[in-house]
Amino acid sequence: MIRATRPLAACALAFMLAAPTLVQAQGRAEPPIALRIDAGAPGPKIDRNIFGQFAEHLGTGIYGGVWVGKDSPIPNTRGIRDDVVQALRAIKVPNVRWPGGCFADEYHWRHGIGPAESRRKTINSNWGGAVEPNTFGTDEFMDFVDQIGSEAYVSVNLGSGTVQEAAEWIEYMTADPETTAGKERAANGHRAPYKVKYLGLGNESWSCGGAMTPEYYTDEMKRYARFVRNYNPKQTGAEAMQRIAVGPNQADPAYTEAVMASQKGHDWAWNIEGLSLHSYTTGGWPPSYSSTKFDETAYAKLVKETLGMDGLIAQHAAIMDRYDPEKKVPLVVDEWGVWLAPLEDTNPGFLVQQNSLRDAIVAALNLNIFARHADRVRMTNIAQMINVLQAMILTDKDRMVLTPTYHVYKMYLPFQDATAMPVNFDAGTYVQGDIKLPRVDAIAARDTQGRLWLAVTNLDPARPASILADLTGAKATNARGQVLTAARVDAVNTFEAPAVVAPRPFSAKAGRDGLRLDIPAKSIVVVQLEP
Ligand code: AHR
Repeated sequence: MIRATRPLAACALAFMLAAPTLVQAQGRAEPPIALRIDAGAPGPKIDRNIFGQFAEHLGTGIYGGVWVGKDSPIPNTRGIRDDVVQALRAIKVPNVRWPGGCFADEYHWRHGIGPAESRRKTINSNWGGAVEPNTFGTDEFMDFVDQIGSEAYVSVNLGSGTVQEAAEWIEYMTADPETTAGKERAANGHRAPYKVKYLGLGNESWSCGGAMTPEYYTDEMKRYARFVRNYNPKQTGAEAMQRIAVGPNQADPAYTEAVMASQKGHDWAWNIEGLSLHSYTTGGWPPSYSSTKFDETAYAKLVKETLGMDGLIAQHAAIMDRYDPEKKVPLVVDEWGVWLAPLEDTNPGFLVQQNSLRDAIVAALNLNIFARHADRVRMTNIAQMINVLQAMILTDKDRMVLTPTYHVYKMYLPFQDATAMPVNFDAGTYVQGDIKLPRVDAIAARDTQGRLWLAVTNLDPARPASILADLTGAKATNARGQVLTAARVDAVNTFEAPAVVAPRPFSAKAGRDGLRLDIPAKSIVVVQLEP
């Protein structure tokens, strides 16, 4: 799929200019933006795993956010809060990465199984020095994943653990109930083997995961890829466990080169089925941008930075193409999102931030980028699911609020496993000071039931955009869906006012000049194009 920024042919443009569908913005009449979808030229599948989540033992991401304990007055099923499960089921989370993050490389799974009262209490040395009660462990995670209807993406400890420890963990989860490991699992309440669909071979091994050189990591990774086996008899063929190796930190090509070179030379004994990329939108380090109060310059700077994801993926995909031209190994962007200054009066190690309309726009732009690279990017995990960084959900004791980013994930549901369609449009320019950005962004796809969908993001906080949609190979006379916007880009949802940024119905009908969508400033619109 191509995102073309060139204008349409002169004759088409002349027609648009003559069309009586001009929007009035800032006192100037503007021609509509001509957007052409080629419905007859299907692109790659937008894998539903692109909409994956990440839940680390960090702050209240797990304890409070997911796990409240069986005796909690907060409604729960076996200790897992019901409101959160219901909200996550509604966005059809395809996979959850757990237990970290940096936490994963210091996690010892045996601390988190068996009777709750005998579990070891440890210190979460990565995140605020909090006491880790280990009451949420393997069996609780698997129960959670099952309750929300998702797949498990388990990251093993390659930093401070051993190959044997990791191998025994996956054996515990997947072995036949007649084996010693399987019997132990059954005694802990789950006789049938669990399904471990994705296996992370370490985390950020270039930094918190052990500061390893790419070559050292690659050698270690091969041992894990060889010996950490999945024994679940149902996990064969398409269901086989996918091993995801640590890959690049942002633009650094060293891990991409080393891991992909070794993958190319792999023999029968080991392989990997994914290479991870981590890249956050931070506005500099340490993160100092506020999540609640920011001006338009800060908005534009952050949006500009986030659009860099496109170049990053292109850069690493080009390296991967040299070793793997058939694109067998996906690039898995398993940590991304906005990382902002911690909210006042919170533990800075808990990474608590609010989530604004700007963050929803950032999410939509990144999802669009992933969709455009769907041939190589087949899985991503936004950081993080609940109460941490760019969260879907914020909780406070028994209260829960859905963030603007959550709403984007819900609006984008039709794109899960949809087939991308080429979209051609002139993105125009949004200018803020010396920052120039595209004014609009869009993707289109045919969903699994054959329906056509268009998602448009208007980045400009002040100017509405009129889009004149034209289809090749299909007909559209109606557009029906939802729009997400608010009075300000820094608008947020709070426990007291939970629907400041919430989707509203959106529709358009074809007129004399075609199907025109009037997209409000600073908004995300997702519509089905109906014949
Ligand atoms: O998501 C927070 C942290 O960011 C993760 O633990 C780590 O992998 C990354 O540096």
